Amino acid sequence: MSITKTTDGIYKLSTNIEDILFEGIWEIPNGVSLNSYVVKGQKTALIDGFCGWDGVPETFFAALDQMEVPLNTVDYIIINHMEPDHSGWIEDIKKIKDDVQIFCTAMSKNLLDSFYGHTKNINVIKDGDRLDLGGGRILQFYTTPNVHWPDCMVTFDTKSGTLFSCDAFGSYGNVKDDGYDDLLTEEDLVFYEKEAVRYYANIVATFSSFTKKALAKCATLPIKIVAPGHGIVWRKNPQKIIDDYARYAAYSQGPAKREICLLWGSMYGMTERGVNKIKELLQDSDMDYTVHNVAEDSWGIILGSVWNATGIILAMPTYENKMFPLMAAVLEEMGKKKVLNRVAFRIGSFGWAGGAEKELAAIMERNKMNWNFLPKVEFKGAPTEADFTKIEENVKELIAKVDELTK
Ligand code: FEO
Repeated sequence: MSITKTTDGIYKLSTNIEDILFEGIWEIPNGVSLNSYVVKGQKTALIDGFCGWDGVPETFFAALDQMEVPLNTVDYIIINHMEPDHSGWIEDIKKIKDDVQIFCTAMSKNLLDSFYGHTKNINVIKDGDRLDLGGGRILQFYTTPNVHWPDCMVTFDTKSGTLFSCDAFGSYGNVKDDGYDDLLTEEDLVFYEKEAVRYYANIVATFSSFTKKALAKCATLPIKIVAPGHGIVWRKNPQKIIDDYARYAAYSQGPAKREICLLWGSMYGMTERGVNKIKELLQDSDMDYTVHNVAEDSWGIILGSVWNATGIILAMPTYENKMFPLMAAVLEEMGKKKVLNRVAFRIGSFGWAGGAEKELAAIMERNKMNWNFLPKVEFKGAPTEADFTKIEENVKELIAKVDELTK
């Protein structure tokens, strides 16, 4: 566990988790941090994470002792969000300090009962409510529903201008004691930006319209520090992560970056021949691109690339009169995450009859994805020279469309 001073009277406790799938789904090759914050006025509040999954609660309690904030001196627990990565240790805390006062939204109160059977000493906040910690330190609460669950809120410290933003403005990636934007190198910040967009695509993307509303609400606050529940804290340039999140939210509706994502799957190498041609063409262009084999790369990694891409190329065969199922599954998930309004085309092989194309149309329709497709290049068995020519024409046209949309 890392314990650091964020600013006067505010301390961050971070623990990194890895070797799991986040939410039981998402691969996190570089881990993810869970951040808690101790805020001291004349009274003391604990905000966010509670550092679960670090082994035993005693680790957390020892950390509080180390900060000279023994648990029995904590007056308030602020639950910005009830998902257990932010609330998992409430039961342990309650065992030691049963009279601690909890502040949360009405829905969090409901979930506290559902998750932990806890119903006492809960103060339900409304938008803009305040909690005076004394010493000139006032916490203000703002509801941010569906960033990420409907119960979410953020907490703003008026004294320091610190926004405790919970899942909003978070990123994947383990953090160390230098997990602050002013202490990291440019190279580190590039790393965390990649971790942030993948985190957004995995966790927040479905709720991009709600994210825009939360951004508008946060824009009314004089924010000097952004302190999320996951990832690094932004003290030097908090506007950077706020602007990044505005971009990520906008990517849902497209266009996104000047980038193409090639997703492919192949049974016996026929479709893969077309994929190899596309890879050559992309490599010879100046277009940024990513490539994922849907049979090898996880959904979380694929979604991170897709979210950035304005153009998408799908390459998959027909399988048992339907689409290659691994592609169908990831496309369905992309629909749920609201990857909308992309420019795209599809290639693929079939044996005796097609079927992939029909299922692709159904997925697009069902999820209202509204992708603009160039003509498909579908071939019986292996692609012919004529098919390779059509593939080349399509790749060039897609690049031109992405250029046009992102200029
Ligand atoms: Fe970080 Fe929605 O939990």
